[in-house]
Amino acid sequence: MAATVIDGKAFAATVRAKVAGHVARLKEEHGITPGLAVVLVGEDPASQVYVRSKGKQTVEVGMKSVEHKLDASTSEADLLALIDQLNNDPEIHGILVQLPLPKHLDEDLVINSINPAKDVDGFHISNVGLLSTGQKSMVPCTPLGCLMMLRDHHGSLSGMDAVVIGRSNIVGKPMAQLLLGDSCTVTIAHSRTKNIEEVVRRADIVVAAVGRPEMVPGDWMKPGATVIDVGINRIERDGKNKLVGDVDFASASEVAGAITPVPGGVGPMTIACLLANTVTACARANGLPEPEGLTA
Ligand code: GUN
Repeated sequence: MAATVIDGKAFAATVRAKVAGHVARLKEEHGITPGLAVVLVGEDPASQVYVRSKGKQTVEVGMKSVEHKLDASTSEADLLALIDQLNNDPEIHGILVQLPLPKHLDEDLVINSINPAKDVDGFHISNVGLLSTGQKSMVPCTPLGCLMMLRDHHGSLSGMDAVVIGRSNIVGKPMAQLLLGDSCTVTIAHSRTKNIEEVVRRADIVVAAVGRPEMVPGDWMKPGATVIDVGINRIERDGKNKLVGDVDFASASEVAGAITPVPGGVGPMTIACLLANTVTACARANGLPEPEGLTA
């Protein structure tokens, strides 16, 4: 029985439409335009593509987009001074510093210098702590997108067995916290996990976020499981460049109940959730009710 394919592209469009509705209301009823500042240091080609896409989508939902493109040799002091300026700018509600940063810059120091209320990536240690203690926080965009898709597919996740494969600060760890917050029984598996097949086979929900092309085959899965594939890996096959996930889609879609494809699954949800976080940050900053359905 072939799995239902969860259409992340279509779902992201519904999230953006909700964001646009909230932005329009903030403008009409309160005269406020949410603003997102993106900081890019250096000329990493992949980062340039992401930043351009973020800016375009920010404007499309009616928000103000500000881009700061800094030279690769920018000093830490200059970058921190820019963040300080953005922290104190009342027209900026969200700040995102594109990662990775050039090696001479201390990523942790830079991220932790962002005002946590404007940290739309949810990477600041205060937001990490708030999420892990079940308090209101800014939630990292990719795991938030995965959670939205899971809630949409299942309704309640309460009591489900979930396995997150990968333990990164950006996806694996916050994903596990979010699933725990929705009352799943959560296991985090990683490269040193013993009998990983058995661990995955127990799961009703599998979130794969390891960055290894097609590492998770269908025969690791419990029949009917919901599979969320966070991987975006570029490979060459039959002389052609191809994007594949961390899950072997061909075999997994024969066993799973539902699965996200690559491309067109989790990928489009990340920027949609960045926009959602920005409108949430703007509402909170102005003491207004949070937009429904756009937060954890
Ligand atoms: N680089 C790759 N993904 C991300 C992300 O989600 N946020 C930031 N700031 N940088 C990234």
